[in-house]
Amino acid sequence: MRHQEVFETVRDRIAKEPDATRAMTVTVETLKNSLPGYDWVGVYLLDSNELVLGPFAGKPSPHTRIPVGRGICGAAAAEKATIIVDDVDNDSRYLACSVDTKSEIVVPIMRGDDVLGELDVDSDRLAAFGEADKILLESIAGLLAERIAAGRG
Ligand code: SME
Repeated sequence: MRHQEVFETVRDRIAKEPDATRAMTVTVETLKNSLPGYDWVGVYLLDSNELVLGPFAGKPSPHTRIPVGRGICGAAAAEKATIIVDDVDNDSRYLACSVDTKSEIVVPIMRGDDVLGELDVDSDRLAAFGEADKILLESIAGLLAERIAAGRG
C-alpha cells in the first residue's frame, strides 16, 4: 500500500473505534500489516516522566517503561520532535528491543506543546524510514492525539 492509502485506511478504521485504546491497537496493527519494513509498531504513553508501553504489534519488548531522556524514545519525547535512526548500532542512545532491529523512527504524539506519547516503529532493515514515513506517522500521531485527549476528557 502507498503511504497515502495507509493514512486513509488508518483514519477510516480509527473513526469507527470510540475507545482510545482500541484506536491505538487498530493503528499499530494496520501499520505493521500494510508497510514492508514496519516490523515492530507500538505506542508509548507519557505517565508523569515515563513513557509506558501501550498497544503494540510485533514481538514483546523488554522496554515497557522508558524515562524521558533515555533511549531514542526518551530523546524524541524530550526534544518534542521526530527522530529517525538509519543504523541503531551507530546511535549510543539506542535501547535494544530485538537483535533483529536495524533502524527506527520515533514520532511524538503532541497536543499543543504537550507530549501525550509517541509512535515507535522498528525495522529489521537498515535506513527503512524516510520523509514519507515521517509525514505519514506525524499525521497519524495527530489523529491519535485528538483521540487520547478526548478519552481523558
Ligand atoms: N529502541 C527504543 C526502545 C523501545 S523498543 O524499540 C520497542 C529506544 O531506543 O528508545
